[in-house]
Amino acid sequence: MSNQNNQILKNTNAQILDEFNASIMFDKELYAQDIKGSIAHSRMLASQGILTNEEQEAIEKGLLQVKSEIESGEFKFSLAYEDIHMAVETRLTEIIGEPGKRLHTARSRNDQVCTDFTLYVQDKTLSIKEQLKELIATFVDVATLHTTTLIPGMTHLQHAQPLNFGFHLLAYANMFKRDYERFESSFERNNYSPLGSAALAGTPHNINRELTAQALGFTAPTLNAMDTVSNRDFALEILFNISTTMMHISRISEELILWSSYEFQFVRMSDQYATTSSIMPQKKNPDVPELLRGKTGRVYGNLISLLTVMKGLPLAYNKDTQEDKEGVFDSVKTVEISISILNEVIKTMIVNVDKMQNACKIGHLTATDLADYLVQKQNMPFRTAYYITKDVVALANSLNKDISELSIDEIRKANDELKNINEDIVLYLDLKNSMNARDSFGGTSTKQTESQIEYFKKWLENK
Ligand code: ARG
Repeated sequence: MSNQNNQILKNTNAQILDEFNASIMFDKELYAQDIKGSIAHSRMLASQGILTNEEQEAIEKGLLQVKSEIESGEFKFSLAYEDIHMAVETRLTEIIGEPGKRLHTARSRNDQVCTDFTLYVQDKTLSIKEQLKELIATFVDVATLHTTTLIPGMTHLQHAQPLNFGFHLLAYANMFKRDYERFESSFERNNYSPLGSAALAGTPHNINRELTAQALGFTAPTLNAMDTVSNRDFALEILFNISTTMMHISRISEELILWSSYEFQFVRMSDQYATTSSIMPQKKNPDVPELLRGKTGRVYGNLISLLTVMKGLPLAYNKDTQEDKEGVFDSVKTVEISISILNEVIKTMIVNVDKMQNACKIGHLTATDLADYLVQKQNMPFRTAYYITKDVVALANSLNKDISELSIDEIRKANDELKNINEDIVLYLDLKNSMNARDSFGGTSTKQTESQIEYFKKWLENK
């Protein structure tokens, strides 16, 4: 190989290695947190007498200029900077000279990256919580309109017992409330400042970590410098929180896909959220809920990916952890767009009340009510009542009726034990009565559903 070719190869390798090593192309997302952290750090250094006030003022002014250069698009993110921390510091020093070189006193990129990333995660935790609150409010609003709308409740995707649709929607409000609380508790757990942990062992400089913790909105400084720079639990927690939220979003999406199918026709989604087929002109496909369901996969992937990155790392900082950021950015963006789209889908869906109620007349949803009646009113053992009820179901099938549509005479003929049964039994087999009979705390009755709605309204007011 000629010398010239050798040189080209070396240059190419250098370029590839720079690209491989650098994080600037994605961690530039953290520029605002990086600058905020640096300002807090410089103010602390000045108040401890490590920087003069003039140096600190120059640094702060310079950092704000870097920020505005980034925000106006003027700033060139070059690979040569390697990461956002070096990029900001290098540009700062270009602008203000000597004092810029003093900013990195008593810190390392190891605590700096943890600070920036924790600030990002905490910020997103709060905004996702707000979005979840709006989503819960939407579920509660729609539930309020449907506390008497019957829908077949299913287990194993088979008709089981009648519910009201409001109750069904509130099941999702409960899931998203748990998600909200998960974000709330991870915020508290992770709200500690890494800044000042330095490379892994702390610093000989007389710093004040309380001061930077307070300035950055943290509860207190972290306790152990070594744990701090190797810790990515906060990133894993937001990935898990997002995964669980996406799993819930995926489940309602699956129901929306089923409910909007020709077989169900329980809901119609606004045309905006459906597309046509390029070949079958009659089709309206539920692409949007399908994508919400599908995007759950990449979010799980991001969680598993970071768990795997972390599993074999010796203490303390290792470059492997640079792999923590892209997955978190991706999951955050995915859940943000997913919550806001789902919110619109639920707000705008058209509920086909008749279809839901008619579907309740398939599958003898009130059969359990007959058995319960015989147990309660006739003191019959449940198993005996169960077999008698089977005869009534068989009769209804032979008449091509639902059990809720049988007359008292028909019921009396179904089994000898029923020949003198009180005529009030027909009331117990009525779908709406059956739904309302489930009036135990947390049950589906309209009354219980309404009190659940009240609970959520109060909860939302206090959040
Ligand atoms: N870009 C690095 C990361 O994201 C910042 C920390 C680098 N620290 C180091 N000692 N090389 O993890």
